[in-house]
Amino acid sequence: DHTNADTLRTPIVAVLGHVDHGKTSLLDKIRGSAVSEGEAGAITQHIGATDIPLDTISGMAGELIDPTDFDLPGLLFIDTPGHHSFSTLRARGGALADIAVLVVDVNDGFQPQTEEAIDILRRTGTPFVVAANKVDTTPGWNPQEGQPIQKSLEAQSERAESMLNENLYEIIGQLSDAGFSADLYWRVQDFQKNIGVVPLSAITGEGVPDLLTVLMGLSQRFMKEEMAIDVFGAGEGTVLEVKDERGFGATIDTVVYDGVVRNGDRIVVGGQEDPIVTEIRALLQPRPLEEIRTEKQFEKVGEVGAAAGVKIAAPDLDRAMAGAPVRVVRDRPVEEVVEEVKAE
Ligand code: GTP
Ligand code: MG
Repeated sequence: DHTNADTLRTPIVAVLGHVDHGKTSLLDKIRGSAVSEGEAGAITQHIGATDIPLDTISGMAGELIDPTDFDLPGLLFIDTPGHHSFSTLRARGGALADIAVLVVDVNDGFQPQTEEAIDILRRTGTPFVVAANKVDTTPGWNPQEGQPIQKSLEAQSERAESMLNENLYEIIGQLSDAGFSADLYWRVQDFQKNIGVVPLSAITGEGVPDLLTVLMGLSQRFMKEEMAIDVFGAGEGTVLEVKDERGFGATIDTVVYDGVVRNGDRIVVGGQEDPIVTEIRALLQPRPLEEIRTEKQFEKVGEVGAAAGVKIAAPDLDRAMAGAPVRVVRDRPVEEVVEEVKAE
């Protein structure tokens, strides 16, 4: 029943994995965008956030999803860099996540930042699925644009399928070495006990319907309780980036993970030195399916509820710090909130 959707928080899905294994491309496929192509050397250097509404997800998942089974509003995807020098950003993305997608190049298997990402997920206890990406690079592959993986496998030669299987079982073995019992996702009965591996291609889109279906199922089944929030609670978030925005001065791109943030709200933001106490002058929301990192046409809104990516304009934000907490003060004494922000 859809009436619940207003009181359920959008789950936050972090996308993690080794450099070049295809995290941004996978999100590009889901968004219908080309963010990866615009990146210098195709290297992601910041955390991104994109809101994907439920109807986009069910549209892509096609026959695999019955949208009436779900009363979540959609998913907020967090893109993270895989280059080794950005471990702080990976940890930050992992900390925000309710669930995660670990992207592994099916030919490359586990690499150093795959291991690092697994360590983060283990530490934070975040449920995850593995996207075994780039299946289309299997020699002799016969691509099946946007199809569920079973349909695609039916169209492959025996040789191509067995080469892919060899790579998939390698990854399943590596997961097991890392202490996770894993299997191809359609063999997994209990996603709390076993990690599902979804073979897919971020370029041809085959297997992407399967990934979206597994993610919706995971969020729906295990997180419904956690997702039900006090929609009127004082907003809480994390700064992704401090950026100058024409006409607004310094702004903070923020992931709001709890409660609601309203225009005019008094907020406390972690700074380079002391926390900044300021008042929101504008709340700028990216359009659905737009990456906050690259959005040019933000919409001015009165409020945003969790989870969402939003650009906050307010005085004194030039001293704000990426990774710092953002808290709405609302009915509490401001000193209490300042202490809380200092302690984080
Ligand atoms: P970082 O953010 O820097 O860690 O990289 P990333 O994981 O976001 O990788 P990205 O999406 O930028 O992709 C890296 C390269 O792999 C690009 O040239 C993509 O076109 C290519 N690529 C990604 N996914 C696929 C796939 O499924 N098939 C093929 N053939 N190429 C892919
Ligand atoms: Mg990337």
